[in-house]
Amino acid sequence: MTVSLRDVRMIYRTGPRPVPALDGVSVRFPPATFSAVMGPSGSGKSTLLHCAAGLERPTGGTVSIAGTTLGDLGETALTRLRRDRIGFIFQAFNLVSSLTAAQNVALPLRLAGRRPAAGAVTAALAEVGLADRAGHRPSELSGGEQQRVAVARALITRPAVIFADEPTGALDNRTSRQVLELLRALVDEHGQTIVMVTHDPVAAAVADRVLMLADGRLAGEFTEADAGAIAARMTALESAC
Ligand SMILES: Nc1ncnc2c1ncn2[C@@H]1O[C@H](COP(=O)(O)OP(=O)(O)OP(=O)(O)O)[C@@H](O)[C@H]1O
Ligand SMILES: [Mg+2]
Repeated sequence: MTVSLRDVRMIYRTGPRPVPALDGVSVRFPPATFSAVMGPSGSGKSTLLHCAAGLERPTGGTVSIAGTTLGDLGETALTRLRRDRIGFIFQAFNLVSSLTAAQNVALPLRLAGRRPAAGAVTAALAEVGLADRAGHRPSELSGGEQQRVAVARALITRPAVIFADEPTGALDNRTSRQVLELLRALVDEHGQTIVMVTHDPVAAAVADRVLMLADGRLAGEFTEADAGAIAARMTALESAC
C-alpha cells in the first residue's frame, strides 16, 4: 500500500476551544491510483493531506508511506522522507519567482544536495509539455504553465505519491482540463499514485475514486462516478452542515 492512514485524528488547540479537524479517518491509497478528496469547506481535506504528507503530525492514529510509519521518524528523517518520497502541488503553485522553470524543477534535488542527472530536468519539463519554457521565470508563464512546472517539480524525485491541494483551484476551465489530463496520464502511463483535494466535481470525476469528508470523518466513497452524481452528493453534504 502506498499510503495508509489508520484512525487519524487531528485536534487543533490554537484557539480558545479545541477544533477536531480530523475525527478518526482510516483510508488506504493503493499504488497507481488517482483519488480525489471532496467535502464542504472546513471538513478537514487540507488537514488530511498535510497529515498524510508528513507536513503536520496528527494528534492520534498512524500514517504510513510506502511501508514507513511517519510517527516513528524524527524531524530529520521525516524531512528526508518528505523530500525524497512525496511530491506536493499547491493551489497557488508556490514557485520561486526569481528562478527559471528549469531551476524550480531542479530545486528539490538541489535541496537534497543532489545534482540533477543530465537531462532529468529537461525530461520532467518535457513530460508536462514545457520543454521550450525551461528558461522562463514564473512571471513569464501562464497560470496553467506555472502549475505544470509545479507538477514537474513534484515529479523530479520520482515520489511514491503526489498530494495535490486544489491544484486547479486558480485555473480557468480549459487550463484546469490540461492539468487534470496531465495528472491522469501520470497515473496511467507511469503508475504514479495521486491524492487530490478538489471542490470541482468535474475534476473529481477524472479520479478513480472520490472520497467525501464531512466534519473530519469519511462520509462516503464513489468509484467510477460521473460529475453529476458527485455534485449531488456534495450538495447534500453542504446542506447538512
Ligand atoms: N493551523 C490550524 N489551527 C487551528 N485550526 C485549524 C488549523 N488548520 C485548520 N484548522 C481548522 O480545522 C478545520 C479543517 O480545516 P481544513 O483546512 O482541513 O479544511 P478544508 O476541508 O481544507 O477546507 P477548505 O475547503 O476551505 O480548504 C477547520 O475548522 C479549520 O478552521
Ligand atoms: Mg483546504
